[in-house]
Amino acid sequence: MLVITTNTELNSFLGTIKKKLNLGLVPTMGALHSGHISLVKKAINENDYVVVSIFVNPTQFNNKEDLEKYPQNLDEDINLLYTVSDKIIIYAPPVSEVYQNKIAPKKFNFQGLDLVMEGEFRDDHFDGVGTIVEMLLNLIKPNNAYFGEKDFQQLQIIKKLTEIQNIPVNIIGCPIVREPHGLAMSSRNERLPSQIRKEASIIYNTLKAAKEKFGTKSAKVIKEWVIKTINDNPNFKVEYIEISDVQTLQPVIRKQKGKKYRAFIAAYTVDVRLIDNIALN
Ligand code: PAF
Repeated sequence: MLVITTNTELNSFLGTIKKKLNLGLVPTMGALHSGHISLVKKAINENDYVVVSIFVNPTQFNNKEDLEKYPQNLDEDINLLYTVSDKIIIYAPPVSEVYQNKIAPKKFNFQGLDLVMEGEFRDDHFDGVGTIVEMLLNLIKPNNAYFGEKDFQQLQIIKKLTEIQNIPVNIIGCPIVREPHGLAMSSRNERLPSQIRKEASIIYNTLKAAKEKFGTKSAKVIKEWVIKTINDNPNFKVEYIEISDVQTLQPVIRKQKGKKYRAFIAAYTVDVRLIDNIALN
């Protein structure tokens, strides 16, 4: 398995393989878990080679402490990927290779997709995501790029990014992978004490119950119920719960026939912020 840390090295390697072959990209921030591995396996099945990027992108963190505490273990990630396939190329650049002297995000117009939910609570987050993903897509020029639906808003924004920046690539969304108790897999879960990690199933269980209610109850009633149910557990605090159109990501006022909706949630437990979502219809 090849581990590459500079753009020049990556370019010269891609020059030797690209011609007629299909290339997949799985962008990650490392601390790999089964959710990432499910993306990598899908990418391997659908491409001749797969680049897995491992880069903790500073410009998408609105909170300095979250960046400092973000789990990093490159050696473990490399060892794990080594067990998956020999068709993987790891691209793990240092911050200086990506941002040279200026660690700042580019500004994008995501046509409102970035102004709600995560965008409302995390200033500049999606500009930071757009900056790194655009750079990776332009550098690697994959045929297909894979993103998890746990970050569903990010997935829709990356689709918009490729449209507004004219980047020729298929953006492929992959289902959420969950821990045995139901918590959506995330690198941040490593920071949870084991009891809280089990109790965090309250988030997914509440979303599943919200889905049951969606046929008969209004979005307002469901959202109030979700907040009360989760906040009744003193270990958890809802930051937002939203029921939104999957295309526009705008909150539903009145449900419309033929439209698809999802419930989106962010909640704090100890000092870790967890997000999740579920398709409602
Ligand atoms: O979803 C993530 O891990 C990150 O936001 C991504 C897409 C790798 C960009 O840094």
